[in-house]
Amino acid sequence: MRTALDCPFSPGSDTIPQVWAGRTAQLSDWRDVLRPRRIAGLPERGRTILGEAGLGKSALVRRIARDGAAAGDWVTPQLRMPSGSDPLKLVARALLGLADRAGLPTSREKRISDLLSRVETVAAQGFSVTLGHQSGPEPFTALTDLLVEIGRAAIRQGDVAVLIHIDEVQNIDDKDSLSQLLISLGDAMAYETTATAPGGVEFPRSLPLAVYLTGLPDFAGAAGADKGATFTRRFKTTTLAPLGNEDLASALQPFVADGWPVPNGEGGIGRVRMTPEARDAILQACCGEPFLFQLAGEQAWYAAETEVITREQVIAGWRAARPEAAAHVERILQRLPDSERKFLEAMARLAPEDRSLTRIAEAAGYPGASSAGPTSQRLDGMRGIIARGKRYTFRHRAVEAYLTSDWPEMA
Ligand SMILES: Nc1ncnc2c1ncn2[C@@H]1O[C@H](COP(=O)(O)OP(=O)(O)OP(=O)(O)O)[C@@H](O)[C@H]1O
Ligand SMILES: [Mg+2]
Repeated sequence: MRTALDCPFSPGSDTIPQVWAGRTAQLSDWRDVLRPRRIAGLPERGRTILGEAGLGKSALVRRIARDGAAAGDWVTPQLRMPSGSDPLKLVARALLGLADRAGLPTSREKRISDLLSRVETVAAQGFSVTLGHQSGPEPFTALTDLLVEIGRAAIRQGDVAVLIHIDEVQNIDDKDSLSQLLISLGDAMAYETTATAPGGVEFPRSLPLAVYLTGLPDFAGAAGADKGATFTRRFKTTTLAPLGNEDLASALQPFVADGWPVPNGEGGIGRVRMTPEARDAILQACCGEPFLFQLAGEQAWYAAETEVITREQVIAGWRAARPEAAAHVERILQRLPDSERKFLEAMARLAPEDRSLTRIAEAAGYPGASSAGPTSQRLDGMRGIIARGKRYTFRHRAVEAYLTSDWPEMA
């Protein structure tokens, strides 16, 4: 009944999971705000979606792009920025793909064919085009110009948004190419063209371009600090939190209610069910981490072949997954600067009612509460791992469980 081929859980990264939970605010932001506003020619900032590893940033925007493509939008694939590489090259290559989609290569205008060859050069040589001291505009202006032409083509087509998804933005370590990239995307989004209303009245409108940047929270520092106001004026940043238990329970409801449909091997459809206790055990194991949710689900699926997934199977499956679950949280902690990790460890050692900034600062060896201020601010505002208040609490439930209990052990 339950085979590897039918398993709907997918703990691999960069997939759009079949068992989808939550993120309704972000999905509706695209559907109800960003997409319709840009298509209507209204200004609307690009979106930056940040969060710790495994919180589902890539999956979220891939899903938005998939929904967009299904509605006829022109979307780039997820453009993952490998560290040390030139982002302009990758983006130029993707824009040429969009230009194809927009039919620009068939244009007989010389201006357009010149523009396409300028962007071909950027795709081949990237940022180094600038270093060649050749005359002519900087490479990023070629990208901006092409984006504008793609946007105009989308207006002619009607009811189409252009979506650009740049992932792992924290890997863009070269300040100049990051700045060029952000300026180019920002300029294209801010660009206004003239549209004509029925009756011949001309009015300015923005292009139907939407840009999503996704990556680790460290990007906020890198982009915010030196790009300052320009960047924040042009991109709206959201830091993802873990998934709530209600969302996770809803995602598993099809298993509990009707059973998840799978081929039964005889040409028909069988159904894999889950007891409510098994569902609760998955919620307890994963602590709201999308990655661990998929992992717990997958392991429970493989734990037996029966029609019903039971609590015992979830626990047996999780036992096999424990090392990976612990490694997931350890990776998050290890990536943090020393000061932040020490702060979290000190916070975890205190009883929940003792977690005031003063007490945590003291436990972490700071001379006073105020000197721990910047660290606690980063852990809250930038990373979303803790929430400050009179008493500090953890928002990242897996980090909390790891530091304060014997999780990933499960009775
Ligand atoms: N909304 C969701 N509901 C259920 N599972 C999800 C959801 N979002 C992501 N996942 C699962 O979580 C895992 C991690 O997702 P994803 O790779 O998108 O995370 P990420 O934040 O991009 O991580 P990284 O920082 O490592 O790139 C994947 O297995 C994915 O299937
Ligand atoms: Mg990712």
